[in-house]
Amino acid sequence: MWSRPCGTARDRSSTSQPDGKLLHLLLSELLRSLVATDVSPTILARVRRRLGEERISYIVADARELPFEDGSIPTLVTHLGLANVPDSQRLLHELRRVGGELVATHVFYPEDDEENRAAAREIGVEALLVRSTMLATFREAGWEVGVEIEQPVHARPTPESELVAGVRIDGLPVAPTTATWCVLRAS
Ligand SMILES: C[S@@+](CC[C@H](N)C(=O)[O-])C[C@H]1O[C@@H](n2cnc3c(N)ncnc32)[C@H](O)[C@@H]1O
Repeated sequence: MWSRPCGTARDRSSTSQPDGKLLHLLLSELLRSLVATDVSPTILARVRRRLGEERISYIVADARELPFEDGSIPTLVTHLGLANVPDSQRLLHELRRVGGELVATHVFYPEDDEENRAAAREIGVEALLVRSTMLATFREAGWEVGVEIEQPVHARPTPESELVAGVRIDGLPVAPTTATWCVLRAS
């Protein structure tokens, strides 16, 4: 299983504290071993300090170029991570290469939310932040995807913050919006 810990993809890190909440939950619910990956050694080290090493291994890796063999990870899991990785097409192809199924918490912006869409476009993640293009991008990468457990959320602009080594800006949303929180299940 692959999971990214809680964190941010900003080079100015947010005030949120990436701490592996989903990983923690998975550890308490499952008996199997987990592999946590993140491109940021800082974030992984923080999660390792919090959750230890029993049944978890930690690998610093770019999700667009994972050090795993084809089809070797039965279940890929990420909590709000997909939209933080620039070049969504490449990301989804790589996840398809290594993974069997993918379960991801995710947030959509409204189709007419031009300001946030433009900001997402600038950092290469727009495709996944709007439902229509998200579905198309998954299919192009060879995934069958379904949207589950949808919930409206009010999102405010991300605060300014300090540097985290090895990660880049996401900074979304740049304008207040009512987005849709959901779970994506793909195989
Ligand atoms: C906003 S977080 C995801 C939300 C987080 N799981 C939480 O619960 O708050 C995005 C994570 O993706 C990581 N990240 C950004 N770009 C990445 C990449 N190319 N490959 C792997 N991880 C990446 C960041 O370091 C960060 O830990």
